[in-house]
Amino acid sequence: MTTFDIDQLQNELDRKNPRVILKKVLELFDNIAISFSGAEDVVLIDMAVAIRKDIQVFSLDTGRLHPETYRFIEKVRKHYQIDIELLTPDREVLDAFVKRKGLFSFYEDGHQECCGIRKVEPLKRKLAHVDAWITGQRKDQSLDTRQDIPEVQIDTAFSTEEHQLVKFNPLLNWSSAQVWDYIEAYQVPFNELHEKGYISIGCEPCTRAVLPNQHERAGRWWWEEGTKKECGLHAGNLKK
Ligand code: ADX
Ligand code: SF4
Repeated sequence: MTTFDIDQLQNELDRKNPRVILKKVLELFDNIAISFSGAEDVVLIDMAVAIRKDIQVFSLDTGRLHPETYRFIEKVRKHYQIDIELLTPDREVLDAFVKRKGLFSFYEDGHQECCGIRKVEPLKRKLAHVDAWITGQRKDQSLDTRQDIPEVQIDTAFSTEEHQLVKFNPLLNWSSAQVWDYIEAYQVPFNELHEKGYISIGCEPCTRAVLPNQHERAGRWWWEEGTKKECGLHAGNLKK
């Protein structure tokens, strides 16, 4: 990792094209990974492999993704000939949780506990071994929680005293339309759920298709308030 000043880097990357941002971050960091959700953030992989063929990519396999998403992850792996590391929850913690609360407790008492076990803890384990990570977060995904995020930030949720972690959000200022324009123009493979009315895609029990003109995150954890719709991967986005 080359040394850098975070504020200076943010000034340099501010509102830059995602490809320019990726090029810069891959120059700065060797030990960096893309966090791929199995949705339209596939454009990050498409751009990154053109810069670095052996880019690290991981997905959080919560055990509750749609069959279409598993098929898509496999398709992406083959299409780009890359490894996609699948991160799974701790078996003992998960067994105990399911035994105690069943498979759908999130409808009763919120998604935080299940996301904590199935997503956040596996992510934390992975992030302890990289210097930086790249996400597909965009401002237009949420008026409630994603308006204030920068292109580059110290990840306050996952850094520790011994290990400072940097987080990059290269697609930040792209709109959904720009992402889809890219997918079409460059013939990027996409998750078949997008053809079935899904825009934002998460776990199967917590994601549903949206109606025309409904906001994309209306289909995520639809039984909860907009301001709570972060699962802990991007906990820093939630206002304290
Ligand atoms: S979430 O926090 O609400 O689930 P969202 O679906 O908007 O996140 O995706 C934003 C970014 O978070 C994705 O582009 C990806 O970088 C990361 N992400 C979300 N879900 C996953 C997942 N299952 N595996 C890996 N990364 C993910
Ligand atoms: Fe559990 Fe739903 Fe969170 Fe997936 S999105 S980890 S099923 S609460």
